[in-house]
Amino acid sequence: MGARIFVTWPMEPEARAILERAGSVATSPSEDGLPEPELARSVADAEAIVPMGAHPVPASVIAAAPRLRIIAVAAVGYNLIDVAAATRRGILVTNTPGVLTETTADMAWALMLAAARRVVESDGLVRAGRWSGVKWSLMLGDDVSGATLGIVGLGRIGKAVARRAAGFGMPVLYHSRHADPEAVAIGAKYRSKTDLLREADFVVLAVPLTPDTRRLIGAAELALMKPTAFLINIARGPIVDEAALVEALRARRIAGAGLDVFEDEPRVHPGLLDLDRVVLTPHIGSASRATRLRMATRAAENCVAAVEGRRPPNLVNPEAWTGA
Ligand code: NAP
Ligand code: GLV
Repeated sequence: MGARIFVTWPMEPEARAILERAGSVATSPSEDGLPEPELARSVADAEAIVPMGAHPVPASVIAAAPRLRIIAVAAVGYNLIDVAAATRRGILVTNTPGVLTETTADMAWALMLAAARRVVESDGLVRAGRWSGVKWSLMLGDDVSGATLGIVGLGRIGKAVARRAAGFGMPVLYHSRHADPEAVAIGAKYRSKTDLLREADFVVLAVPLTPDTRRLIGAAELALMKPTAFLINIARGPIVDEAALVEALRARRIAGAGLDVFEDEPRVHPGLLDLDRVVLTPHIGSASRATRLRMATRAAENCVAAVEGRRPPNLVNPEAWTGA
């Protein structure tokens, strides 16, 4: 019969077929995520869990699955998995880096353009029948072309965001913990976080959520930004202090924001809902049809490798790997 594998959403048939080569597959009937006690019951005899990135796998669920060998997350960010608890038990954790890079970089640009050029507000005006004719000063926005782009986290997605800037004639600055040898080739110049925040017209966040990056952007950082600058977050909500962001936007200390992720999803700070020059999307950075299939496929491949005793390609806790 092979391994018992539990998938936390109704997975695409192509990816499910990969899992079925290694064992019997049960899937959650909806994408909503199971309450913790129900998830714990569902994985009680599972060797593998394949969760969507938005579905937590806490220590209590891991403890409820004595036969568990692999948690194969279908996302690059794995901040909702208790990796330390998994590692202590020798359970492998994998993610899906690379396959969603370009799609997520596209989303950063969609948010930049939409916020700067007031695309959503303009769409609302037209649909509401409030457009009374072409006006010189209607929906005046800000140029993206030629503006300075600042990227915090020049990893896979950060670099893909940076590469697109060449077409817009934008100087690119970046900040990471280490200077990146590939930055020169893509024309990105290193800055301290402070200098990047002072100089950039668009600040794009593309770091993982870690203890170091939680609240990386708070009131003090927002105060460094230009009053004409925009903050774009396609990384993780808790990287930004949302209340401080609302304050900064209300006080016009920065010009606007484009947010795909929020501190306490799916709750959105009510203050954000009242503001113009702010574009809000429901964590859809990697949500293209082709990319979702690639993510599901990669998660399935990681899962099958682990249950067959091979080292999975995208292991995030190599210390849990003891060899085949
Ligand atoms: P990645 O290749 O690992 O890049 C992360 C970058 O962040 C690296 O350049 C790293 O460089 C930098 N970094 C890490 N900690 C930092 C810190 N404390 N201060 C400054 N820079 C730091 O990851 P990726 O594939 O680009 O993905 C990035 C994140 O995007 C994911 O973890 C995920 O949370 C998010 N994401 C969101 C969506 C969405 O749907 N909105 C989709 C995909 C991914 P150094 O090590 O040199 O610091
Ligand atoms: C999506 O948010 C991901 O981390 O892949």
